Amino acid sequence: MSENEQVYEPVALSFIDSCDQLPLLLIHGFPFNNTMWEEQVVDLAEITRVIAPDLRGHGRSDAPDPPYTMSDLAQDCVGLLDYLGIDRPVVVGGLSMGGYITFEIYRQFPERVAGLILASTRASADDEAGKANRDQMAAQVQEEGVTAVTEGMLPKLLAPESYEADEDLVAFVAEMMAGTSAEGMVGALMAMKERPDSTPLLGEIAVPTLVIHGSEDQIVPLDEAEAMADTIATAELVVIPDAGHLPNLEQPDLFTDVLYEFMDELQEDYYHG
Ligand code: MLT
Repeated sequence: MSENEQVYEPVALSFIDSCDQLPLLLIHGFPFNNTMWEEQVVDLAEITRVIAPDLRGHGRSDAPDPPYTMSDLAQDCVGLLDYLGIDRPVVVGGLSMGGYITFEIYRQFPERVAGLILASTRASADDEAGKANRDQMAAQVQEEGVTAVTEGMLPKLLAPESYEADEDLVAFVAEMMAGTSAEGMVGALMAMKERPDSTPLLGEIAVPTLVIHGSEDQIVPLDEAEAMADTIATAELVVIPDAGHLPNLEQPDLFTDVLYEFMDELQEDYYHG
């Protein structure tokens, strides 16, 4: 070896990685996909690492044959965290069916959860009429195709003013739903039909929880969210005015601001907890 030749020895470097932030797993509703979170992904990127999967059968993910279970959907999401090497607890947030999956993740993997966001969702299971409706919708998807069902859903998803006045939003939601596969729709309908009642879990939730709900939600009435927030000792409820079942799309700035504040407070514990 000549005198000037250096032998490389690794040293421990300090570094900044903008992804080294408390992750937020955002789970979409039925029958949507992760494009519903586009605004939140962009606006929250400075304080959190947003991970937003397309659930199986939805968006660009694989669509295995139905039926699916809530457990399948929850395990897919936690499997994604494993794949990304994220073993510290994350904030899990879900909208509507995404909320049902969020409950399932908390039930099965509480150690993976640093906080919860429950958007436009409910804790109770389907009653008998609700289950029969899932079967009827699944049969209609199989006989007439996806859009026969999604077209009927559309007017109820948005607050009446958004539905009447915001053509672009209506077109966006219609297109997103039409892109869901028949397998995905039927699979998710069966998962929702058979989902467990999460009401007993509410009293056990011990992580900071944000319950966020549109004032004019026609799918999950606001009083259900109020009751849920009252039962979770660690929950705060924020009602988004002039919004229906999709407040993140109908009032994106308000919705994102609320999530920003919630995540910002939790960051402190992530770094110093
Ligand atoms: C959803 O938005 O995910 C669904 O409307 C939930 C449901 O049908 O229970």
